[in-house]
Amino acid sequence: MDAVAAPLSAPPAPRGVIRRLQSRQGREDPFPLFEEIRQVGPVVSLGRHALLVTGYKECAHILSDRIWQVPDQQWRTARGVHTDGSSIGVMATLPRLNPPVHSRLRHLLAAPFTQRALTLMLPTVRDLVHHHLDTLEAELRQHGRAEFMSTVARALPVAVMCAILGLPAKDMPLIAHYSIQTAPLTEPFATPAQITAADEAAGQFHAYIMALMTAPGPHPGDGLLTRWRTETHPARDTTSNGDLAANVVFLLGAGVETTSSLFATALTALERHPRQAAWLTTNPQAWPQAVEELMRWDPSVHNAVRFPAQDTVLAGIEVPAGTLVHALIAAANRDPEHFPAPHDLDFHRPPKRSLAFGAGPHYCLGAPLARLNALELLPELLRRFPTLRTDGPAVRAAGINLRTVITLPVSHRPSQPTIPHP
Ligand code: HEM
Repeated sequence: MDAVAAPLSAPPAPRGVIRRLQSRQGREDPFPLFEEIRQVGPVVSLGRHALLVTGYKECAHILSDRIWQVPDQQWRTARGVHTDGSSIGVMATLPRLNPPVHSRLRHLLAAPFTQRALTLMLPTVRDLVHHHLDTLEAELRQHGRAEFMSTVARALPVAVMCAILGLPAKDMPLIAHYSIQTAPLTEPFATPAQITAADEAAGQFHAYIMALMTAPGPHPGDGLLTRWRTETHPARDTTSNGDLAANVVFLLGAGVETTSSLFATALTALERHPRQAAWLTTNPQAWPQAVEELMRWDPSVHNAVRFPAQDTVLAGIEVPAGTLVHALIAAANRDPEHFPAPHDLDFHRPPKRSLAFGAGPHYCLGAPLARLNALELLPELLRRFPTLRTDGPAVRAAGINLRTVITLPVSHRPSQPTIPHP
């Protein structure tokens, strides 16, 4: 979609920029393209009715200010946009709802992701980390190499989410499969064929969750699905099982693909920045800031969409009500006006909040869980596998919103330790 005749007053985006972001090279390294957009301005037009935003200040404002809303069913109907995924209630999920429905549903879903609930989850997460790293070790010993995503990076967040939600452990490979297949539903530039395939997978995933939720008899464990059966909550009574199941499908995708790509980013980034990795080894107390920096540098979610509910002005550009705006989180996180030397991965960077988890009412519900998973896995991964290196390129999914990595081969390279053994 090129911006040739833009009625919006913003300057047009560089020609073919979305197509170039979607190319293999663009998906591998989109950051030069974000800089190309930034050269035009912090707010540029994309086609006749949409804007791309790269400025940190502008993105933070869009995500936080009340007049900016997520494109919901009402917005779609008004603009004649067909509802993708309507068959599985995707429009009833948190990122497609605005207050007050959004606030009620968010409260209903939030319980397992609070700091208190996660403290109780810590021993389970720790056990799962050890179990998955044992599997990685066995794979490496047996075959000399391993596939990082299916062994650890995707498998661990799937296992953690299964424990939280109360899903059967035997179904983890199926859940990992659905998590990848449904990811295009969050892609603003997915093709109709990609949406159709993702919608079909989401339909199957939804039917699977519905069957678990409505199975007769007592439900095993004390996961979220069980609690919804036994505990009362005002939003539970007004939310259909179908809509709840749609949100479970979304939670799994949102929790798994994002965390798994953070792990892939961390592994490759530490390999390419051995001095930073070495510093981290001798300064393990710095892991929390290192995780924040990794997520600033290459966040798992690159784009958030919004529209203003009334006419407004953004960076001096008039934005009519209803205009679709892409807040490019990943570009905002490298805005030189907010983060000096933004392209450097620098664990010594003074703490400053990035937009990796968004901001405002849709701020990531799972941020504490993502941080917990990362802080349990990554230090242990580097401690136990100091010579683990990528052994071939990462295969990435087609989208440009999520950084989904499908496969990433790894092996030991004893001659080139990633980090010196302490
Ligand atoms: C590295 C890991 C993660 C990253 C970078 C990430 C990033 C984000 C971002 C940027 C948003 C806001 C999108 C927007 O404003 O449109 C978001 C929302 C959300 N995330 Fe995460 N996420 C991560 C992990 C998780 C996990 C583990 C869960 C757990 C279930 C989760 C659940 C959610 C939910 C439910 C929302 C929607 C919140 C709402 O609309 O109110 N995320 N995430």
